[in-house]
Amino acid sequence: MADQLKEAPIVPLVQADDPDVALKTVQALQAGGLNIIEVVLRTDAAMECLEAIVKADTGAVVGAGTVLSPEQAEEVVRRGAEFIVSPGLNDDIVRYCQSKKLEVFPGVNTPTEVQRAWNFGLRAVKFFPAGLAGGAPMLKALSSVFRDMRFMPTGGVSASNLNEYLSLPSVIACGGSWLTSQKAIDEGDYAAVTALAKEALAIAKG
Ligand code: 3PG
Repeated sequence: MADQLKEAPIVPLVQADDPDVALKTVQALQAGGLNIIEVVLRTDAAMECLEAIVKADTGAVVGAGTVLSPEQAEEVVRRGAEFIVSPGLNDDIVRYCQSKKLEVFPGVNTPTEVQRAWNFGLRAVKFFPAGLAGGAPMLKALSSVFRDMRFMPTGGVSASNLNEYLSLPSVIACGGSWLTSQKAIDEGDYAAVTALAKEALAIAKG
């Protein structure tokens, strides 16, 4: 995953009600060069969407996001999630993932939270909600103190500020839903999703 993030440091969020739509969205993102996908647990069908993507064997690295409890963490792992992302830092989720040697990115946005994650032995966390929590300047300040911590800013990231985040050495990737435009998906315009992925990748490579 670390190697793939170096090539394409962008993690698109997939939120879907229908496994078929979720799978088509993932394939559209892959066509645009993005292969690490976070399926968020924000719909009743999210678990089925996650499982359908895993079973389709697309070659994508598929993780689960918005994981709020250790029970959900266990279930997403049963369904094939390869990494876990949470909006906040929950001790039990972190311990569970560590016991399974599973990559986990708890959400943090204060020095206390980063320090707590650091003392769990974590060296990569989600910075959330990135824009409202102070954006790149806040991340720069946190990175100057926690020098070996790596961050995945998410929340308010878009093509217009992606470069600002990615230019910070501590940022391993940016996550976000801007790549999976609900309007485009509702209209079945998967080419638009591919175009958004390509645009983001071009910014990352530039
Ligand atoms: C998340 O779950 O990481 C955020 O909801 C993503 O925020 P965004 O929709 O602004 O990208």
